Amino acid sequence: MSDYVVRQITDAESRETFDLLVRSLHGNPPSDERWAKVSDSWAADGRTGAFHDGEAIGIASSFATTLTVPGGATVPMGAVDGVGVRADWTRRGVLTAMMDRQLHDFVRRGHVVAALHASEALIYGRFGYGVATRMATLQVKQPAPLRESVDLPGRVRLLATDEAIATIPSLYQRIDTHRPGMIARPEPWWPIAFNWHLHPDGGNHRVAVHTGPNGDDGFAVFHVVPQNSYLDPERGAALEVHELHAATPEALAGLWRFLLSVDLIEVVNARGRPVDDPVGLLLVDPRRAQTIGVDDELWLRLIDVPAALAARTYGSREPVVLEVNDRMLPDNRGRYRVSSNGVERTEDEADLQLDVDTLAMLYLGAWEAGPLALSGRIAGASAETLARVDALFRTGTQPWTGTHF
Ligand SMILES: CC(C)(COP(=O)(O)OP(=O)(O)OC[C@H]1O[C@@H](n2cnc3c(N)ncnc32)[C@H](O)[C@@H]1OP(=O)(O)O)[C@@H](O)C(=O)NCCC(=O)NCCS
Repeated sequence: MSDYVVRQITDAESRETFDLLVRSLHGNPPSDERWAKVSDSWAADGRTGAFHDGEAIGIASSFATTLTVPGGATVPMGAVDGVGVRADWTRRGVLTAMMDRQLHDFVRRGHVVAALHASEALIYGRFGYGVATRMATLQVKQPAPLRESVDLPGRVRLLATDEAIATIPSLYQRIDTHRPGMIARPEPWWPIAFNWHLHPDGGNHRVAVHTGPNGDDGFAVFHVVPQNSYLDPERGAALEVHELHAATPEALAGLWRFLLSVDLIEVVNARGRPVDDPVGLLLVDPRRAQTIGVDDELWLRLIDVPAALAARTYGSREPVVLEVNDRMLPDNRGRYRVSSNGVERTEDEADLQLDVDTLAMLYLGAWEAGPLALSGRIAGASAETLARVDALFRTGTQPWTGTHF
């Protein structure tokens, strides 16, 4: 028998478990003043803790939201926003026990999917999570003028902090189903993940809003970091783009134009961009923009495989029968016929076998089936079957989340 218990935390345990999470990520627990500002965002509901003799030794927390899937529908999602085990309790199965409880809690709550951002790539595959979106780190060296043929009639304005806190949530709401992989940002998300970054002690970020023919349609959050030093006193500053969201290609280009026009900047860095961000194409000299890295972004877990498969749309091609294996949620096991008309359970012979984490990798359209087969993640498929899988699952737009939690 284990010497700890895993259960939902109580409100009285909120701060202790938040501090535990921050310490497990090697940060400093919040002051009383800061805790007063963020504690409403850390309500006990949806947070699983591990306790030894009444003391917290692990936390796996989540909040409820929705995920946009290919075709534009949204599905209920558990967003796993904090996982940590106290350093003197690691590698004794605490995370495994918390994940098991959390996944079954998601089933009870009717979440169709769960998702998280992973600190390390080796942790979550064993629990059925697969990389479902990827993100690029972009760097644009200045000066980077736009091509003359780029015609952008919209306007950009900078917001004061209070105005940004009041305006951006509803603006984001008008954008959040724009791409597969985007999520709704519920109210408790904002104080911790947005407002704090605008605060002078947080990040001192500025917020720019784009206005197009139909009103406000995009925003950027950024801050400027000096790069000069004693050895390099002339070095210009870096403009770091924290967020960039737009409802239309014109709004996106208009915001890039603004970010690339700020004076006294040597380089513009943007982490967490979609892998198909068009900034290089807008420039007179496309080499001024470089992709300097591509990383995993959203790790997705299909909690209710039939509901998840039924929620998205498919391309037009002959059907394929998938045999899905799920070690932790056995109700998901079985064969599914996927066609352009939808999905149904079947007893027919399978065209291929895959685990639920690999299905999550296919689900939003981030990966082609060929490399997944080559790496042993998809078994039993012919080249013709793989081509059918691609034709059905491919989305045309690269999935992307663009929200950290
Ligand atoms: C990552 C973390 C939560 C793992 O907790 P844990 O209680 O040690 O995990 P478990 O003991 O349940 O490990 C389960 C399995 O995952 C493996 N594992 C766990 N963490 C791992 C890691 N960081 N790298 C590689 N493997 C890991 C274990 O070796 C074990 O494998 P096994 O089943 O083959 O023996 C913990 O190490 C931690 O808090 N790390 C710092 C904070 C952090 O990174 N949090 C995650 C934020 S997304």
